[in-house]
Amino acid sequence: MTKIAIIGGSGLENALEIIRTEVINTPYGQVEVNYSFLNDKKVIFLPRHGKKHERPPHMINYKGNIWALKELGVERIIASNAVGGIRDGLKPGDFVVIHDFIDFTRRRPLTFYDGPKVIHIDVTEPYCPEIRSALINAARELSVKVWESGVYACMEGPRFETPAEIRMLRLLGADVVGMTSVPEVVLARELGMCYASLCIVTNYAAGIQERISAEEVSEIMKIKVPVVLEIFKLAVKKLPEKRNCKCMII
Ligand code: HPA
Repeated sequence: MTKIAIIGGSGLENALEIIRTEVINTPYGQVEVNYSFLNDKKVIFLPRHGKKHERPPHMINYKGNIWALKELGVERIIASNAVGGIRDGLKPGDFVVIHDFIDFTRRRPLTFYDGPKVIHIDVTEPYCPEIRSALINAARELSVKVWESGVYACMEGPRFETPAEIRMLRLLGADVVGMTSVPEVVLARELGMCYASLCIVTNYAAGIQERISAEEVSEIMKIKVPVVLEIFKLAVKKLPEKRNCKCMII
């Protein structure tokens, strides 16, 4: 079976029981990874904001994290992301298995390929269709309502958006808004790893509700973490032994 990593977003910092922790040296600095289990499947667990949520979205070592997972032989990454809901009908507490993104980040590492090797990866399908199906089918089987596609707008943060920004994102076709899926998904693909994300809507996006607070994001996450874990556990079981997607083709 392929090696799997879970990249936990906001609220998942302490969601998995950690068996062992290891520090990996990468060209981008040291990265701490943890070993955990999802049912009987050993997984690598990496809380992207740190165990105490001490790293804001723009300060995450995206390149180090993805490099470390590649070094450990990981082929599939399942991530969680807290998001604001833009699309009509999305409510706090809903799950969305995103299929595409729009990148509005400004000062983050873009790529592992800064030359002399020049690589332009294809991102027609940025999120692995095989992991996405596993997540969707797992949610369905657990009778959890899930939106089966969605466009994620990635903002630089760490502030939330203005209402005008959200109106713009809606016009551009974004369904949800967050701060961390890019460049994570891109870097994973650059190293030939499968990557998909289960997004949890924690609030209506700016201007749709009156105010947004980090507290309400963690409140919703606290309620939803057990459901996220159940979906992850079942999704991991549903994944085929070997990868049949095109994510490894660079
Ligand atoms: N905007 C950006 N990131 C978020 C939001 C939001 O409304 N909610 C949770 N993460």
